[in-house]
Amino acid sequence: MHKIGGQVKDELDQFIALCNTLVPTTYLEVGARDGIALKYFVTRVLSIRRVVVLDLPGARWGRKGSQVKLLETLKSLDINEPNIPGYKVILGDSHDESNIEQIKEWGPYDVVFIDGDHSTEGVTADLDNYGPMAQQIVCMHDVNHPEGSRAYACTKLFNERRGDYRKSEIIVAPGSRKGIGVLYV
Ligand SMILES: C[S@@+](CC[C@H](N)C(=O)[O-])C[C@H]1O[C@@H](n2cnc3c(N)ncnc32)[C@H](O)[C@@H]1O
Repeated sequence: MHKIGGQVKDELDQFIALCNTLVPTTYLEVGARDGIALKYFVTRVLSIRRVVVLDLPGARWGRKGSQVKLLETLKSLDINEPNIPGYKVILGDSHDESNIEQIKEWGPYDVVFIDGDHSTEGVTADLDNYGPMAQQIVCMHDVNHPEGSRAYACTKLFNERRGDYRKSEIIVAPGSRKGIGVLYV
């Protein structure tokens, strides 16, 4: 299965097509690792003007040292992508009160993408803290996992919460266990 960073390419391409119909200008990614998928996304959703990233390098589901590539990627966006006049990044824990406050101050965001801490407590806190900062859609990665898989908490939470939103959908490529869940606020 062709991957772009942590994303299945077919799913990311479908997600990009969906976002292009919404014409978002602001984007928050919680859990961006090295920024490969982030760059692929923001260079294809050209309405985006402001990018905010929150990541704790080397945490679970992460890679030690990933911030080097992430910061390089963000700088390259700043220099080469005329639609993105600037980005903001926090290298820290998404559950820290001060980080939540800062991210809120920089918001709101048309699109919020949650792909950080995949534990039950972690992803629930992220949805509760960052979901309300979304103006159009809140998205969760890993919403198509079978019970017992390492990222099943995301799937379970998405299914428990999707009824609270105006509309929801899952983007999933054939044979993929990942999936992108989209919640319309
Ligand atoms: C699955 S990876 C993200 C993949 C990325 N979204 C992509 O599509 O390529 C999860 C990232 O979240 C980070 N992370 C894990 N727990 C976190 C936390 N509590 N706060 C912030 N980031 C966290 C990990 O270090 C890792 O970089």
